[in-house]
Amino acid sequence: MLDGFSFREGSLHVGEVAAAAVANAVGTPTYVYSADAIRAAYRRLDKAFAPLKVRTHYAVKACANLEVCRLLRSLGAGMDVVSGGELERAWLAGTPLEEIAFAGVGKTDEEIRGALDGRFSPLAGTPLVEGRDLTHRGAVGMFNVESSSELERIADIATELGVRARVCIRVNPDVDAKTHEYITTGKEQNKFGIDLPRVRLLFDAYRDHDSVEIIGLHFHIGSLVPRVEPYVRSVEVLNRLIDELQGAGHGIRLLDLGGGWPAAYQEGECPPIEAFADALIPLLEERVREGLQVVTEPGRVLLANAGVLLTRVQHVKLGRSKRFVICDGGMHSLIRPALYQAYHFVWPVDVPQGLAPGTRAETQDFEGLEPSDVVGPICESSDFLARDRQLPPVGRGEVLAVFSAGAYGMSMASNYNDHGRPAEVLVDGDRVRVVNERQTLETMLETERRPREVAIQTLC
Ligand SMILES: Cc1ncc(COP(=O)(O)O)c(C=O)c1O
Repeated sequence: MLDGFSFREGSLHVGEVAAAAVANAVGTPTYVYSADAIRAAYRRLDKAFAPLKVRTHYAVKACANLEVCRLLRSLGAGMDVVSGGELERAWLAGTPLEEIAFAGVGKTDEEIRGALDGRFSPLAGTPLVEGRDLTHRGAVGMFNVESSSELERIADIATELGVRARVCIRVNPDVDAKTHEYITTGKEQNKFGIDLPRVRLLFDAYRDHDSVEIIGLHFHIGSLVPRVEPYVRSVEVLNRLIDELQGAGHGIRLLDLGGGWPAAYQEGECPPIEAFADALIPLLEERVREGLQVVTEPGRVLLANAGVLLTRVQHVKLGRSKRFVICDGGMHSLIRPALYQAYHFVWPVDVPQGLAPGTRAETQDFEGLEPSDVVGPICESSDFLARDRQLPPVGRGEVLAVFSAGAYGMSMASNYNDHGRPAEVLVDGDRVRVVNERQTLETMLETERRPREVAIQTLC
């Protein structure tokens, strides 16, 4: 019930390893990922969508750690990236360029250049790429294009470099994903995607372009989409559009369904991945038989429940009606509670055996729990990891696990209040590896040490 995690004799284990031992060895706050849980989630998704022969592009933004990307690559994943930085990570993780999709609403000229020709990669000439040939690196498998302005830039830069860019047009289907408003992306008022009339115009305008080939369509209606129905509606919209475009003589080889498949932060709160796949398969299987390639870009469903954040209690403060458990991790390490009022199950990693939970449910049926807010050290009242929870008594120095923190945890961590970003650990069976060292103050200060004069010509 806790995915790759389990309480054994009251002690939280990740694979074969005690979480407390990891916290003692590596310090806190630290993200700990279970390789087994990532593998299980990937295989489950793969199996659910097998009738559509879906190609999976892992959404790197969910957890960009290189070793996590390598692990997913070893399972066969391509990568969905939204910046020049993520593109380089995907490539360093060993992903062939053809299996990288470059999405994102604000691609810069530099990023487009780097995605078309390795000589313009931000890593060109750095020791990081030793042994990998950037000079002869060509174009990514596809760009997911978000506006006609962007497509124009891709076409111009591809022409300038003498290469051909493959492009998928991101459609805004104007469908409400019924998720948190900050992660809703498929409504007409959202900045993402292109409306249907403009999509048709783009297909016509770029029909015989020398440097751009439009190979298909893309949509992504949001993240943590809690119901099947918005996907069904979106695919119906896209199916009609495909028919229309094909009728006008355009070839549509690929349909990218985006990501957004939910992960259960509490068991049972959303349908399983199989429910989404089962609803979409009948809508697409005939097209797949006729040669359509279907792609999906999952992030959360693969990583969320494969990671925990370990944080150590620094102080316990009694308020009038509850106690504040003040930890070294907070909104700077995991911003989801502050940003989206998101729920994460929190529990001490070592408890008497009778207090070991078997699920991530908010309400746990134990005696002796105390009303608590689990908060961080940051000077904001939004700095909480869990509010109004019933927790076992905990004291200074104890370690808590914040569950379901593998996706949009570390990748959204910040240095606010001058805290270094957490360490990351990958546990595979009994093998424990620090896959990202804790950020030190030295590296944080590096770019501020030597102010640099800039000569700017003024008018007067
Ligand atoms: C275009 C795109 N694809 C895929 C994803 C991954 O979403 P999720 O992690 O919910 O699967 C996102 C995340 O917001 C996205 O913006």
